[in-house]
Amino acid sequence: MRDVAIVGAGMTRFGELWDQGLRDMFVEAASGALSDAGADRLDSLYVGCMSGGQFVGQEHLGPLMADHLGMTGVAAVHVESACASGGVALRQAFLEVGSGMSDLVLAAGVEKMNDGADVTNVLATAADQELEVYYGVTFPGLYAMIARAHMQHHGTTEEDLAWVAVKNHHHGAMNDKAQFRREVTPEQVMASSLVSEPLRLLHCSPVTDGAAAVLLCPLEMAKEFTDRPVKIVASGLASGSMALADRDDPAFLDAVQKSGQRAFEMADIGPPDVDVAEVHDCFTIAEICCIEALGFVEEGKGGPAARDGLTAIGGRIPVNTSGGLKSKGHPVGATGIAQTIEIFRQLQGEAGQRQVENARVGLAQNMGGSGASSVVHIFEGV
Ligand code: COA
Repeated sequence: MRDVAIVGAGMTRFGELWDQGLRDMFVEAASGALSDAGADRLDSLYVGCMSGGQFVGQEHLGPLMADHLGMTGVAAVHVESACASGGVALRQAFLEVGSGMSDLVLAAGVEKMNDGADVTNVLATAADQELEVYYGVTFPGLYAMIARAHMQHHGTTEEDLAWVAVKNHHHGAMNDKAQFRREVTPEQVMASSLVSEPLRLLHCSPVTDGAAAVLLCPLEMAKEFTDRPVKIVASGLASGSMALADRDDPAFLDAVQKSGQRAFEMADIGPPDVDVAEVHDCFTIAEICCIEALGFVEEGKGGPAARDGLTAIGGRIPVNTSGGLKSKGHPVGATGIAQTIEIFRQLQGEAGQRQVENARVGLAQNMGGSGASSVVHIFEGV
C-alpha cells in the first residue's frame, strides 16, 4: 500500500445554518479543502452523510455534490454508517489513494439536521428498530442506559459526567467553528433540564448543520500542495452488536476497542504514543466509554479523567480539543471529517489557542449509533 497524506482541509461553521442548504454547505467545505491545498482537480470524492433522504429528502448525493462543486465527471460516492459516515468516507478515500487507483481524492461529510425533520426519529433509525425503537427508546435514552450501567459497574458519578461537558465547552469556546462558544460550570450542567435520566441537556451533543472536507493524495506528491502534510498511518474499522441488550456489558464499547486495536496494530504504536485525540462524545458518557475502550485509561477508570484534568489541553492525553461533538456540534455525517480536521491542524501546529504542545501523533475515533460501528484513524505530522 502507498503512503497517504492529507494536504488540505475546509469546513463550514457548525450550528443552525438557516441560510445554507445541504449542497451549499458541501460546496463551501469542499472548495475550502481544494483551495487550502491549491488543487484544481480531483479523481474522485466520497460524501459521508447519515440520512440526506430523511432529513431533507435528498439522496444520490455523490453526483449531486460533484455537480455543484463543478467537478461533474469525477467518480462520486455516498457513504453511510450512521454518525460514523464521515470517518468511513475518510477510510474509503484512504484505501483508494493507498491502493494506487487514484491520486487526488476528497473525503467529505455533510448533514442538514435543522430543516424541519423529526430529528429524534430520524436519528433513531440508526438503532435497532425491532429490538429498541419499537419500544420507544431514543438516542438520549440508549446513552442514559449506558451511563447507568457505567455508574453501577464502576461508581462513575453525575459530577464525573458533568466535567466532560465543562472541559469540552472550555475547548469549544476557543474554536470559531463551534456551535457553542461558551464555558459552562459543573453546577450549570447538573442543574440543566433532564433529558433522559441521568443525562441532562448539557450532557448531550446538539442538533447541528455543517460540512467538512479533507483532500488526500500519495505522500510522495504531498509537497506539491502543502509544506506541512499529515500522514494517515492507520485505519481500523469494526462492527458490534446493534442492540444494547445483546451486549455482555452495555457500558463497554466493543467495536471501539476492536477498531482501536486494529489501528494501533497497523500503526505499530500503542495508546501512550498518542499526543492528541478526538473521540465520539455524542453524550458525555460516550467520551468516558471511548477513552477506556481505546486504552487511554484503564477499563472503568474513565469517569474522573476530565475532572482530574487528564484529558484537557495540557493534560496527559488531551481529548476533544476542538470542543468535541458536545460543544463544536454534531452534524452527524460530517463529524468524522471535522474530527480529522482538528487532528490535521494540531499536527500542522496550526490549532491556535487550542494547540497541544509538540503534538506529533494524533487519533480520531468516530462511532455510529450506540456503538455498533466505530472507525479509528491514526495520523502523524511529517
Ligand atoms: N447542549 C447545550 N445547549 C443546547 C443543546 C445542547 N445539546 N441543545 C440545545 N441547547 C440550547 C439551545 O441553544 C437553546 O438555547 P437558548 O434558549 O439560549 O436559545 C436551548 O438549549 C433550547 O434548545 P432546543 O433546540 O429547544 O432544545 P431541544 O430541547 O429541542 O433539544 C436535545 C435538546 C438535547 C433534546 C437535542 O439537542 C438532542 O436531541 N440532542 C441529541 C442529538 C443526538 O441524539 N445525536 C445523535 C447522537 S448518537
